[in-house]
Amino acid sequence: MAKKYNIAVIRGDGVGPEIVTEAIKVLDVVSHKCGFTLDYKDYLMGGAAIDITGEPLPKETVTGVLASDALLFGAIGGEKWDSLPRDKRPETGLLKIRKELNAFANLRPVKVFDDLVDASPLKPEIVKGIDVLVVRELTGGLYFGEPRGKEGDKAFNTMVYSKDEIVRIAKVAFEAAMKRGKKVCSVDKANVLDVSQLWRDTVIEVANDYPEVELSHMYVDNAAMQLIRDPRQFDVILTGNIFGDILSDEASQISGSIGLLPSASMGGKVGLYEPIHGSAPDIANQGIANPIATILSASMMLKYALGEENAADLIEEAVGKTLSEGYRTKDISDYGAKTICSTSEIGSIIADCLAKL
Ligand code: IPM
Ligand code: MN
Repeated sequence: MAKKYNIAVIRGDGVGPEIVTEAIKVLDVVSHKCGFTLDYKDYLMGGAAIDITGEPLPKETVTGVLASDALLFGAIGGEKWDSLPRDKRPETGLLKIRKELNAFANLRPVKVFDDLVDASPLKPEIVKGIDVLVVRELTGGLYFGEPRGKEGDKAFNTMVYSKDEIVRIAKVAFEAAMKRGKKVCSVDKANVLDVSQLWRDTVIEVANDYPEVELSHMYVDNAAMQLIRDPRQFDVILTGNIFGDILSDEASQISGSIGLLPSASMGGKVGLYEPIHGSAPDIANQGIANPIATILSASMMLKYALGEENAADLIEEAVGKTLSEGYRTKDISDYGAKTICSTSEIGSIIADCLAKL
């Protein structure tokens, strides 16, 4: 009997529903082709959940997702919910589900499609062939540290990491490096922050178990500069939650558009697969969002959550081929476009291309 997987789906807000629809279109074709079945079940989170239940992360969502094989997620948030108290905001739902899933390891690969080297604001010779993996710690650091809050005219957050948290994310980075270019650059702010000094000391300890991997350290301000000066020097970038958030948005520009970069968030029983971009409410419901980041996130889901590597590779191949044939969404339409496509058109073209591979 064909293998069957249960996929929890959170479409979310803004462009979320549009891009997830395209990822599912592609998943349906690839699963059929590779002989397995995906059973999707929708759950609420973010603004859509707030509107219906009053909570950004309803209990049923957590229970349902935990009973699935993987979570495919679009994006959440929007101006409509920005004035709500922090614990009721859409972003809080996302942070909570990352925590519930123990998804402490966020992998954000940054690659450049050959046909899109001109889409990058950086010179083609700087970005060509780029293949960097950002390993971002996702369930600790400044995002979750206590105390946090506001007292009178003072507001505060705490950047805190325990040694255990650093060890486990460092291992993820070193293991990933072993399968790639065998280089880890750990990014911190150890010249100023105590938490960064612990980070650095701990990463050095973990590195002892990986003698084949070349370890370097970089302060985050320098890393931000080096990423645009010479991104090719990086293989795996290992960093904490807030630095990883900022550096991965920066790194997305190497590839030409934030609409191209996928991510996988893992660590617990169920992983979460989402584009690195947000819900982009300004372009929602216009059919112009780029679904490729979500489609590539679905590919990561097949690889990491379901072990369907062949299917994952087919998706990547279909995306590459579609781009090399000149199909482009609006965000990358200035570069090598032969045909400008809507969100759903490019999804269909990728799906058709895949069917023919
Ligand atoms: C991301 C996003 C989120 C983050 C927001 C929406 C909470 O920017 O996934 O990078 O800061 O982690
Ligand atoms: Mn971000």
